[in-house]
Amino acid sequence: MKLLITGGAGFIGSNFIHYILKKYKNYQIINLDKLTYCGNLENLKDIEKNPRYKFIKGDIGDKDLIDNLLKNEKPDAIINFAAMTHVDRSILDAEEFIKTNILGVQILLEASRKYKISRFIQISTDEVYGSILKGKFKETDILDPSSPYSASKAAAELLALSYFKTYNLPVLITRSSNNYGPFQYPEKLIPLFVTNLLENKKVPIYGDGKQVRDWLYVLDNSMAIDLVLHKGKIGEIYNIGGNSEKENIEITKNIFKILGKNKSSIEYVKDRLAHDRRYAIDSSKIKKLGWKPKYKFSEALKITVNWYKNNKNWWKRIKTGEYLKYYQTQYGKK
Ligand code: NAD
Ligand code: DAU
Repeated sequence: MKLLITGGAGFIGSNFIHYILKKYKNYQIINLDKLTYCGNLENLKDIEKNPRYKFIKGDIGDKDLIDNLLKNEKPDAIINFAAMTHVDRSILDAEEFIKTNILGVQILLEASRKYKISRFIQISTDEVYGSILKGKFKETDILDPSSPYSASKAAAELLALSYFKTYNLPVLITRSSNNYGPFQYPEKLIPLFVTNLLENKKVPIYGDGKQVRDWLYVLDNSMAIDLVLHKGKIGEIYNIGGNSEKENIEITKNIFKILGKNKSSIEYVKDRLAHDRRYAIDSSKIKKLGWKPKYKFSEALKITVNWYKNNKNWWKRIKTGEYLKYYQTQYGKK
C-alpha cells in the first residue's frame, strides 16, 4: 500500500509514520508537509534514508502541487494530519487556520476525487463537539465548536462528508482526544510544562486549572488510525478517547511528582477565551472494531517525561526565535 501522509513532520503524523513503517514492511509512505513553525524533520531523522519513505515539502493548499503529486505518485490512501493545531494561536489570529484547515482540505478532497483515491482519512478532534459537563459525546451528537481552531476542524469534517455524500469519495473521520508523547511541540500543556520545569521555570495554569481533558497516548492513537484505515466503514466517524480524564491541575501534580517539583512552580495566569471546561467522548464504536487504549496514563506519562528529559537538544532548539515571541505574547515577558 502507498500512503500519502500530510502533516507528517508534526507530532502525531511523525509518530504515525514511525509506527506504520515498522509494522508494515511493504508499505510506502510519502510525507507532504509545509514545515510550518511546528513541522520538524528532526522527528523523522532516523528514517529519512529508508527507501520506503519520501519527504516532499509543500502546502496542502497548493492546488498544482497536490494535483501533480497525486497524478505522479498514485497513492492508494491519504491520511490528512496537516493542520494549524493550537487553540491559543487561533484566538490570536485565525487566518492560517481557515486557509489550511478548511481551504487546504477542500483542495485535497477535490484532487482525491479526480484521481480516485481509495480511502481519505480526515484526522479531526473531539474539540468539534465543544464542552460537556456530564456524560460523553457520541459520533451522532451535534457539533458546537468554541474556538476558531475547532470551528475550522468542524468545517473540514462537514466538507469531507459532503464529498462522500455527493461524489461517493471514500471518506473516513477520526475524532481523537488530547494526545501526548514524544515530539509534541512545547506550546501544548504536557510538553510545555515538562520542558519549563526542566528549565526550572514556572508552569502557567489557565484560570482555576480545573478544566478536564481525556488524555490519549500518541501510539494508541496511531493504532486506532491504522484500524480505521484498514477496517473502518466508509462515510463513518470514529471517536478515539484515552479513557483517562484528568483536570489540568492533576496532570500538573503528576508531572511535579515525576520531576521532584511542587506547587511553588505554579503560576496562575488569565484564562483562555471561551475555554472549554470538559471534553469527553464515547469510544464504543471504535472499540467494536477491535481497538482500546493499551497504555496506562501513569506509565505513558513517565515515558513521555523521560523522553523530554533525554532529548533536551530537540526542544531547546525549538524554544528560541519565533517560539519565544509567541510565548511572550501569550504569557507576558518573563
Ligand atoms: P502539529 O501542530 O504537531 O503538526 C501539524 C503539522 O502539519 C506540522 O508538521 C505542520 O508543518 C503541518 N502543516 C501545517 N499546515 C500545513 C499545510 N498548509 N500544508 C502541509 N502541512 C502543513 O499537530 P498534531 O498535534 O500532530 O496534530 C495533527 C492532526 O491531529 C491535526 O489535524 C489536529 O487537528 C489533529 N488532532 C490533534 C490532537 C492533539 O492532541 N495533538 C488531538 C486530536 C486531533
Ligand atoms: O482535544 C484535542 C485537542 O487537544 C486537539 O484538537 C488540539 O490540536 C490540541 O492542541 C489539544 O487542544 P487543547 O486546547 O485541549 O490542548 P492544550 O495543550 O493547548 O491545552 C490543554 C489544557 O491545558 C486546556 O484546558 C488549556 C490548558 N493549558 C494549556 C496551556 C498551553 C493551561 O492551563 N496552560 C497552558 O499554558
